[in-house]
Amino acid sequence: MQRQPLVIANWKMNGDRKLVTTMAEALREHAADYPAVQVVVCPPAVLLEAWQQAVFYDQIYLGAQDVNEHSHGAHTGEHSCSLLAEAGASFVLLGHSERRQWYGDSEPRIAAKVSQVLAQDNMTAVLCVGESAEQRQQQQTFAVVAAQLAAALGQVARCEQLVIAYEPIWAIGTGATASPEQAQEVHAMIRQWLTEKFGSAGREVRILYGGSVKADNAAALFAQTDIDGGLIGGASLAADQFVAICTAAQTRSS
Ligand code: PGA
Repeated sequence: MQRQPLVIANWKMNGDRKLVTTMAEALREHAADYPAVQVVVCPPAVLLEAWQQAVFYDQIYLGAQDVNEHSHGAHTGEHSCSLLAEAGASFVLLGHSERRQWYGDSEPRIAAKVSQVLAQDNMTAVLCVGESAEQRQQQQTFAVVAAQLAAALGQVARCEQLVIAYEPIWAIGTGATASPEQAQEVHAMIRQWLTEKFGSAGREVRILYGGSVKADNAAALFAQTDIDGGLIGGASLAADQFVAICTAAQTRSS
């Protein structure tokens, strides 16, 4: 069994229509360098339709950065899974640390969002987990990550529409990437958790690393046994960097 390498761009609250065009052109131009890699772009939701038009003929998937935990109704400012799907999204990031920290993504809310996404046909939930610097210092990394997995996935029976992103909070946007060994150790623990919960299907779930992945450190991270690709923030806003990261992921398939 081989897991398809996966690279996801998380634009956060950045980018514009001009960058959609530039990035889509760069990805098209270099697509032959990473034929085995699944590439997903998660722009701000208002740019999904522009992306959908820009990559109509390309093998590029689109994702949203969050979703509401309800299917529809009086939730001003929010987006449901079906609205995001209509705008072209087939992936949704869930439980990103910025949302956990600043936008009220509690464990029960994240679990409710996971079940919304899994109930939608052809949608994949990308669950983000990771510890703070203080938790790592106190050697709580495994316990924190396991608790986040249990809270979000406790009620989930199947894992075919699931991706996990390990993103240590201290590495996000700081330039302080986890070393490949540090990341692999946590990925292996996540892999074990998934196989205990889902049986052999847990071995097929892709586990991404996120946190200051750049063109020059991607290859070493992607060389690790359980690092199936990356969730890329800052470096996904520069076409040359992002293309180089996608190309680094191609080596996993050889
Ligand atoms: P970064 O962000 O690559 O800028 O560290 C990653 C993320 O938050 O998903």
